[in-house]
Amino acid sequence: MAQHSSARPFHHPQPGSALACGAVSLEALARRYGTPLYVYSADHMVERLALFQQALAGREHLVCYAVKANSALAILNLLAGRGAGFDIVSGGELERVLAAAPEAAGRVVFSGVGKTAAEIDRALTAGILEFNVESEAELDLLAARARKLKMRARFALRVNPDVFAETHPYISTGLREHKFGIGIRRAPAIYKRAARNRWLEAHGVSVHIGSQIRSAEPFGAALERVNKLVQQLRRQGIVLKTVDAGGGLGIDYHDGSFDAEAKAAEYAAALERALSGFEGRLLLEPGRFLVAQAGALVTRVLYVKQNGKKTFVVTDAAMNDLIRPALYQAWHEIVPVRPRAGKARIVDVVGPVCESGDFFARDRKLQPVEPGDLLALLDAGAYGMAQSSNYNTRPRPAEVLVEGAKPRLIRRRETLADLLAPEWMPAKADSAAIERRRLSALALSARRRPLGV
Ligand code: LLP
Repeated sequence: MAQHSSARPFHHPQPGSALACGAVSLEALARRYGTPLYVYSADHMVERLALFQQALAGREHLVCYAVKANSALAILNLLAGRGAGFDIVSGGELERVLAAAPEAAGRVVFSGVGKTAAEIDRALTAGILEFNVESEAELDLLAARARKLKMRARFALRVNPDVFAETHPYISTGLREHKFGIGIRRAPAIYKRAARNRWLEAHGVSVHIGSQIRSAEPFGAALERVNKLVQQLRRQGIVLKTVDAGGGLGIDYHDGSFDAEAKAAEYAAALERALSGFEGRLLLEPGRFLVAQAGALVTRVLYVKQNGKKTFVVTDAAMNDLIRPALYQAWHEIVPVRPRAGKARIVDVVGPVCESGDFFARDRKLQPVEPGDLLALLDAGAYGMAQSSNYNTRPRPAEVLVEGAKPRLIRRRETLADLLAPEWMPAKADSAAIERRRLSALALSARRRPLGV
């Protein structure tokens, strides 16, 4: 397997040349597809997937990519082709998997605290691997839908191990006070009750303690508790086939030399240690670790402006394209695609959206840039496009997936027509009337204007 010396696929092929994704220059891509533009390396994603697959080679396992991190159909198709399964959290994500890789339906786990009856029905008929059930009420609904469809539903209780994982409070999920999962102490009674229902099959147990967790230790602690539950259930005659360790393994947004291979190995070893005695299949739900570092958001500098002591670099990308800095004060490394000589300056990198929260970096040291220059916001492959919006009526960026030396447009740039399409519009007759009013107003104001102005 080809190894990257750096954690990212973006590099300068020669000193002074433009930043490239693999063999493809970001300058060339920006020229061809415009900006802002998401660029991803397919090879990098596949290598990351392989890191987990290799680290877990000693046991039966399935890496279920968390679709929410980046749900592009081409990426789902790519990962499915390398044996990945999928972790979904909505009927929409299920449709994406079925569209991109229908053969992977049996490798899907369905998480989320608010599944609807319609979503459950669709997932049952699609034959997904298991439902990660987050409440007793959901289990009751699952049983009712399964009975109605005369299908047996495989489920895993998502237990809450009450483990603290140090990360941003919005993305920490494993504490008792969070909305996720079922308290681990209540789980045995629920499994026992489910065992009496012929429409339910107790298939596994799942856990997810949060996201962007840098240390392997809390994962080990959570899985130890899960393993205790598995053994306890086994003694009571309930034999679970799967343990789903969730996602959450973090990356280093600051350090491009982050050793992903060592990290994946350390993580897998912690899970293995915690699962001693469990002979079933281990499922993982990584999102960020697989795709974050494969992606960059390429944007063009529109203006460089000075307000008092502060310098603002205004880019054509904004918080609607990448909301992580605004929402979590997340740090994304920003690099010029073609660095200029000269002294670095302290700047704010901001977008055109009308909010002070629309920033990518504050008081950041940046090499000199001029209007027209390209910048790359790194580590933007996960929760970038997936969390984008049309705020300020801004069409979403295009996306390019680079495989070897071949760039492929996997999502065209949205047009304003795309944005307006679902909305009410004045009828044709009305719009003709509006046009007449506009023209007569124009004629009126022309008559009022003094000649020659
Ligand atoms: N499984 C479940 C049940 C999850 O809730 C999540 C993420 C994952 C797997 C994947 O976690 P990952 O491996 O990507 O950390 N928007 C935030 C991250 C939210 C994560 C939500 N759940 C961000 O931009 O940092």
